[in-house]
Amino acid sequence: MSIISTARQSRRVVFAPRIDALFRQYLGQQLFRLETETVGVAGAELMDSLLRSRLANAEERPTFKPVLGRTVTRTESARVMQAVSTDVRTALKKPLCEPDLTGAWPRVPHNYLRDLVFGRERLRFRVLVDRKLELTPKLTWSAITTGAAMFGRPGPEVALSTLARTVLEAETFAERRFAMYLYRRVAGPICFTVAALVTNAMWLGSPFDDDLSNECIINETLRLLPPSWNILRVRSPQFTEIDSRIGKRDDVLLLPLLSHRDPALWDAPGDFKPQRWTQLDAETHPGYLPFGHRSERCWGRHMVLPLASRILDLVRRNGLTVDPARTQGHVHLHGLLEVADVKVVRR
Ligand code: HEM
Repeated sequence: MSIISTARQSRRVVFAPRIDALFRQYLGQQLFRLETETVGVAGAELMDSLLRSRLANAEERPTFKPVLGRTVTRTESARVMQAVSTDVRTALKKPLCEPDLTGAWPRVPHNYLRDLVFGRERLRFRVLVDRKLELTPKLTWSAITTGAAMFGRPGPEVALSTLARTVLEAETFAERRFAMYLYRRVAGPICFTVAALVTNAMWLGSPFDDDLSNECIINETLRLLPPSWNILRVRSPQFTEIDSRIGKRDDVLLLPLLSHRDPALWDAPGDFKPQRWTQLDAETHPGYLPFGHRSERCWGRHMVLPLASRILDLVRRNGLTVDPARTQGHVHLHGLLEVADVKVVRR
């Protein structure tokens, strides 16, 4: 069990034992052996050199890794990213309104984001961003295959997101299934990653002081609880050239989770101090990689920040905070790093 200081001393973060073991054994170290053929890296300079030495290969890309063995080309990935960006831009122009965001987070912001960005999409699309699909890839596969098989073209009067319209353009079943996978690959992160980020922010810092900017809160949350907490790169001759402790057969697990708390890089590394970001630059701070390396940073980050900020605006406007009775927030070891089941209430 590990604990970090939140802004509210009464609230603690309890990490899954394997994450906790990483902190206990390796915090402050640059390079360490994790398994027979896996080296962990958390030194800022070394992470920079390794990530600069080559681009991610097709299998390493989190969003656009191959779909059922078919490579996703740059043109295809750029096209779906443009479609989802259009949907996010349209969503951000909508008035804030008064949604009820009390209840169990991250589920509540997840559903809010789904409705805000993708609207009353037809069920075969809505189901693709359902939280239940996270349980097993088989569920995702069957939801996509059924959706692609049962496809009927809706009339022009049916409201669809720009992203869903990319699926309509597919002419064969195989193309449609491929397009639905891509729908899931980009619509999923909009809901899952942003919901994780704002839930973590609530746990670490709510209720937020008026003089703190959303940007500082988000940067500091991404430092202490980065939803994307590790970056894997498979064995590569370049890595051995950069550091001879990395063998030819070693994969490399880069750990922003650890570099984000390295005492050599941060003042009071375990404390939630959003105001530090009035002095620091999130784009260049050594070892700060919540969105990956600058050579190929996350393509979605320009959508993440305004969406998360919108939710924090609603939180502040409606006086929301974490239920004071909750004192321990659990971070499990699966996929995204997020505090599970946080009860949010009105103050
Ligand atoms: C809190 C939210 C998010 C975080 C923390 C995050 C983090 C990251 C990180 C660390 C990388 C680099 C991975 C690597 O180098 O191996 C990355 C890449 C990428 N991200 Fe994100 N991301 C977020 C949200 C999103 C969203 C919403 C989208 C799309 C709608 C997205 C799309 C991508 C894409 C396309 C890449 C490039 C690599 C690829 O092709 O998969 N991300 N992200």
